[in-house]
Amino acid sequence: MIEIKNNSVILSIGKNKKYDLPFLWLRDNCQCDSCRITETQEKQFLLHTVPVDISPKSVEVKDSNIVVDWPDDHKTFIPIKIIEESGSLRYPDHEEWPKDYKPQKFDWSEFLGNKEIAVEALKHFVKFGAIVLKNAPKEPNSLEFLSKRLGPIHEVLFERIHNVSVTGHVYNVAHTSKGLPPHNDFASYKSQPSIQALHMLENECEGGESIIVDGWQIVEDLEYDNPDYFEILKNFNVPFREFDEHNETYAEAPLIQCGNDGSIESFRFSNQLMQMIDPNRKNIKEFYKAYHEISSRIFDKKYHSTFRLNGGEVLIVASLRVLHARESFIPSGKRHLQDAYFFYDNAANNIVLLSN
Ligand SMILES: [Fe+2]
Ligand SMILES: [Zn+2]
Repeated sequence: MIEIKNNSVILSIGKNKKYDLPFLWLRDNCQCDSCRITETQEKQFLLHTVPVDISPKSVEVKDSNIVVDWPDDHKTFIPIKIIEESGSLRYPDHEEWPKDYKPQKFDWSEFLGNKEIAVEALKHFVKFGAIVLKNAPKEPNSLEFLSKRLGPIHEVLFERIHNVSVTGHVYNVAHTSKGLPPHNDFASYKSQPSIQALHMLENECEGGESIIVDGWQIVEDLEYDNPDYFEILKNFNVPFREFDEHNETYAEAPLIQCGNDGSIESFRFSNQLMQMIDPNRKNIKEFYKAYHEISSRIFDKKYHSTFRLNGGEVLIVASLRVLHARESFIPSGKRHLQDAYFFYDNAANNIVLLSN
């Protein structure tokens, strides 16, 4: 059912679906062959070529399309189905971890070879921010193969595939046998890596259990319990730096970043990379109180999932949400981990691609 108002068209479908479609929206979304590039399905029509107060001569519903006649005799049609689809989620929303959550395990070869399993794994990944691949090769640089499902490697300085062992190049606390507090890697980049894959090649050491932490849950709870702390952490830029004699990375950014609907998009946390903040900065006292609070929440076990990552297993985390940590270990045997970074967008959009 159609009803024309002053600057929009009300479209009602059944009893409870209603859309208020602005005239400019209707003109902009015309699906005719002259308004689209038919080979690519891209838009060709340019909005500024019609007056801002454009108003239709007539509007009707015909064969499940909205059909609009404009004063310049252009005829617009839009299938109602695509209007209804425009509001649906492309992939699942994030979900709270159930009690005693452990990331679901998928077989390495099935993840790479079977589309259905890849979709199931990627859906679990976007919901909970973590999965584990088992039966992975124990060969160095095997993470390259994950590009088939996660898109190209997001390279950063130091190494394309990072080696973490106590015998290699030591530029970070991870390269010692000390416990590693919860963090996400490369907070020292403005565009911090959004997926981290941690590939355990060998793990013969005692201790060194892996811990992952749902950072978004911590942030959501903080927003509920103490909105003032949440606000300051959202607005206060913190400097981070990671470097060695050949590499320099540095960025300033707030610990919490939200989308314009208020939903959390990123939680940045790295005690080891955080730099001295200029003490003259406005609100530094308030920042430090809020920072103390969130720092203690990060160590609250209710947000943790702890497990042993064995040789031949790959932990993949949505690293703008899930922090990782490691218990200390006794360097009694070999322990070699490699990590690489990927783009979250590519992994999530592969759910759509692989579902076709
Ligand atoms: Fe790390
Ligand atoms: Zn058109």
